[in-house]
Amino acid sequence: MIIAIDGPAASGKSTVAKAVARRLGMHYLDTGAMYRAVAWLALERGVPADDAGQLAALAFAHPVTFAYEDASTLPTGVYIADRDVTVAIRQPEVDAAVSAVASVPEVRAAMVSQQRRLAGEDDTVVEGRDIGTVVFPDAELKVFLTASADERARRRRIDLVGAGHDVETNEVRERLERRDYADSTREASPLDIAEDAQRLDTTGLPVEEVVERIAILAGERR
Ligand code: DC
Repeated sequence: MIIAIDGPAASGKSTVAKAVARRLGMHYLDTGAMYRAVAWLALERGVPADDAGQLAALAFAHPVTFAYEDASTLPTGVYIADRDVTVAIRQPEVDAAVSAVASVPEVRAAMVSQQRRLAGEDDTVVEGRDIGTVVFPDAELKVFLTASADERARRRRIDLVGAGHDVETNEVRERLERRDYADSTREASPLDIAEDAQRLDTTGLPVEEVVERIAILAGERR
């Protein structure tokens, strides 16, 4: 079974998708981490964000891998080109570069084939922007998470401050809106709601409530 969880930046996707995977004993795939890893590698190698050819070459040459601890179904590490980038891909520099990298059609082709391979064999909760529309159009359950811009900025700021980056909520909100605009208006697989997706606004909802609703929907489709 595939559960596709899509939505804009900081809509609660990661927290919810991980909790759903834990609750239902499913694997979890964070596709945003894969685009972030390629963006990190591009920054590291000095590849400009507008050099589609070089970005595609990087993406095809360096598959993203995930590390698991013991029998855990949730990954504990993200790797590209033999480097542990688990922490580095959450830096503001990567936030700023990743939309341009994710807009290159060849980069997306490389990621989508890896994602189908990584999630294709086991029951997996897959989170991203195009999972229900492009990567797994036949997913048994598709959820599109949203939250107000204020709520998303507040959540993202908490993450950033926790990671040692001191930023104002207004600035975080502006950056999120810029990234959402880029992700929603790009030509290649823009952020979009699949026709058969369940839309869930998480503003003001506790995580447990969102997870409960998704677990019920998943139970109905098993
Ligand atoms: O979910 P996130 O913020 O970690 O995603 C990082 C970026 O990757 C985001 O700006 C959009 C892009 N992305 C994408 O284009 N397609 C996906 N399936 C997942 C993420």
